[in-house]
Amino acid sequence: MEQTIRRALPVDPPPRLLMGPGPITVDPRVLRAMSAQLLGQYDPAMTAYMNETMALYRSVFRTENQHTFLVDGTSRAGIEAALVSLLSPGDRVLVPVFGRFGHLLREIAERCGAEVHVREVPWGEVFSLEQLEEAVREVRPKLVAMVQGDTSTTMNQPLAGVGDVCHRHGALLYVDVTASLGGNPFEMDAWGVDAVTAGLQKCLSGPSGSAPISLSARAVDVIDARRSTEAGLRADPDSEEGLAPRAARIRSNYFDLAMVMDYWGEQRLNHHTEATTMLYCARECARLLLEEGLDEAVARHALHGSAMLAGVQGLGLKVFGDLAHKMNNVVAVWIPESVDGDAVRAAMLGDYGIEIGTSFGPLAGKTWRIGTMGYNARKDAVLVTLAALEQVLRAAGASVPVGGGVQAAQEVYA
Ligand SMILES: Cc1ncc(COP(=O)(O)O)c(C=O)c1O
Repeated sequence: MEQTIRRALPVDPPPRLLMGPGPITVDPRVLRAMSAQLLGQYDPAMTAYMNETMALYRSVFRTENQHTFLVDGTSRAGIEAALVSLLSPGDRVLVPVFGRFGHLLREIAERCGAEVHVREVPWGEVFSLEQLEEAVREVRPKLVAMVQGDTSTTMNQPLAGVGDVCHRHGALLYVDVTASLGGNPFEMDAWGVDAVTAGLQKCLSGPSGSAPISLSARAVDVIDARRSTEAGLRADPDSEEGLAPRAARIRSNYFDLAMVMDYWGEQRLNHHTEATTMLYCARECARLLLEEGLDEAVARHALHGSAMLAGVQGLGLKVFGDLAHKMNNVVAVWIPESVDGDAVRAAMLGDYGIEIGTSFGPLAGKTWRIGTMGYNARKDAVLVTLAALEQVLRAAGASVPVGGGVQAAQEVYA
């Protein structure tokens, strides 16, 4: 034990360019924000940061929703908080699945005790509005829960009109935008989304560990009906009487969004101890994105995503999925039969310090996923990755056109 402690050197990770489906290399400005000293939970400087963070994420999500804040934890924490707070046991939920993260929504909804109805399209495709409307009409759910960009397939589900369909049939719409936010258009209010959750580790140039969330007034009504208050918090214990929820109590304490909203709201009612460093981080990620401009950030992801797509095609590689619906920030590439996919990834990492991603489920071992997102949606990152991939593929015995990747990407930039 003592020896281990003596041998543990200060953290000094090797230099890497993270070009997978996320996490990606963090913007140095975000790292600097994370090294700032902590504040007490009720310090006016801290509550001012909390309020600013809420305002920043209203702009990021393009919403007027008052209840826009952070859930402490990775993106999955945001998903779990939204679903466990919105879904009571027995509630009907429709989950349109077009990849791994749709299955995750299904699983979490099942754990909430909901009656889950799944509709699926093959990996590499998305749903049409008509397909979604038909499913909503058949299932009559309380909630439709879906992913916008599913990194497992690289597909970006069109969402315009989906909120209207849900509301016409009395359902709420929840969307997971972890992988797509900042790199692809997202319009919470214009699209009628009632609950949205995200993460920082993709197009927002941060690490994972904080999940921005926003809730419409409709979603807040559902959650409010389930509101309960922990005993021992209020100065007057009698005031705790009558605080039993009107509907089924939320089955998680940590992810009870009614309590988390009280903590972020005017009352500042104690719940968890805010993860201050992650709040600094989330605030800086939003500042960076808004300083650049949301439309400009989406255009940057579209440009570098197109260059990467052209580049891998220029290397003679085939691309997975319906390109008309590909996310701007990631591409899935079929691994040529003649090469060992894991050995190529290992050589990219070992010789060039570049990480590209593997895949899940039906695509495991068949495709690599290459990201161009957040801080790494940059020309130099794209060109260096393509140049390295060419060398590694050739060394692995694949026949690839000399300079074909870099040249095709440069043509996109020309
Ligand atoms: C669409 C989507 N949802 C959820 C997650 C889970 O995020 P986390 O690993 O931060 O919990 C990911 C991670 O890649 C994702 O791409």
